[in-house]
Amino acid sequence: MDTLQILRMNGGEGETSYAKNSVVQRKIMSYESPSIEEAVTDILCKNFSETMGMADLGCSSGPNTLTLVSEVIDMVNSKSQKMGFSLPEVRVSLNDLPGNDFNDIFVSLPTFYQKQEEEKGKGFRNNCFISCVGGSFYGRLFPKKSLHLVHSSSSLHWLSRAPPRLAVDAAVPLNKGKIYISKTSPSSVSKAYLSQFREDLSLFLKSRSEEMVPGGRMVLSFLGRTSADPATEHGGHQWELLAKALTSMVSEGRVLEEKIDSFNAPYYAPSLEEVRNEVEEEGSFVIKSLKALEVEWDAGFQTDSACEIQENKRKISSRGGRVAKTIRAVVESMLESQFGRDIIDDLFVKYAELVDDYFSRTTPIYINLVLSVTRKGP
Ligand SMILES: C[S@@+](CC[C@H](N)C(=O)[O-])C[C@H]1O[C@@H](n2cnc3c(N)ncnc32)[C@H](O)[C@@H]1O
Repeated sequence: MDTLQILRMNGGEGETSYAKNSVVQRKIMSYESPSIEEAVTDILCKNFSETMGMADLGCSSGPNTLTLVSEVIDMVNSKSQKMGFSLPEVRVSLNDLPGNDFNDIFVSLPTFYQKQEEEKGKGFRNNCFISCVGGSFYGRLFPKKSLHLVHSSSSLHWLSRAPPRLAVDAAVPLNKGKIYISKTSPSSVSKAYLSQFREDLSLFLKSRSEEMVPGGRMVLSFLGRTSADPATEHGGHQWELLAKALTSMVSEGRVLEEKIDSFNAPYYAPSLEEVRNEVEEEGSFVIKSLKALEVEWDAGFQTDSACEIQENKRKISSRGGRVAKTIRAVVESMLESQFGRDIIDDLFVKYAELVDDYFSRTTPIYINLVLSVTRKGP
């Protein structure tokens, strides 16, 4: 099934919303700032025109969405002043899948503009024009040569679909009991995932190459890995634990085993090498930098009084509980469509326990890749 139909961050501002549970992604965004600043400076030095087109792909909703816009406008303003240029007008396009809570963004815009004008002075509104574009970034979204800066954070690890080659048609399912590449998965599973990733990234780059001006810049950050082994714990252990939590519900008669066997997450954490190879092979962009950074599963959040979360009348007190909320805000819609709504609360209680146990043995980290590229010209 297409990701478009099943992936949707939890909307609104409630307890399980993405807006309330996206500190890890916020931390990841903070790691990108130097790359974005370098890209903005480069764009201004090229002095393209009086207007600048910028797109944020996979913007979701919540505090992270407009934080990036504010940061980029700050950079544009201070760099332009230093260089003695007049301020360009910036067209900001916020993109996500059609099921995204765009309404939340629209509702928050007046407050955002008001706050920006208080902080940055009147005129902000005439400098920064924000619109929203619903659709998949695996395909064209914008007119030809309309973008100078493209950004995407914590989104490109989502594939356009689960690898079709994994669809259950054999008597024994290829990835039995698992929902992502695991140490026990046969090599055909990781090959199928790599093939889908390559197809998707290539289409993504081709689409952006048409939409961006020559010399335009793109900063992308997404989960990945430094190891060549696709089953490395840093690549997808969050899925391993989720599969374990689901499996524990099979014996309780609450989840059908076949439902686990037939579900494969439309997600891929590529290695640095796989990203580099695909960008070079597609050929439209020159790599300026490609880095791998570590971020803890709960963004390093620690407190003496453990984080207490009341879920389904059971109390989870832990870093595991916090991680479970972060993951739930992202994958709930997807799991609901495969396993039904009834199991969700209990599933994430179990998941929190498993994550706690994992924390007691190690410091779980994600590897976040930050790729900065320039559109080749002309
Ligand atoms: C974890 S959120 C990241 C949101 C935000 N960029 C941040 O850093 O907080 C990932 C977002 O990517 C979006 N996404 C996934 N696949 C997409 C696609 N093919 N096209 C557009 N958006 C996509 C999801 O809907 C989701 O809102």
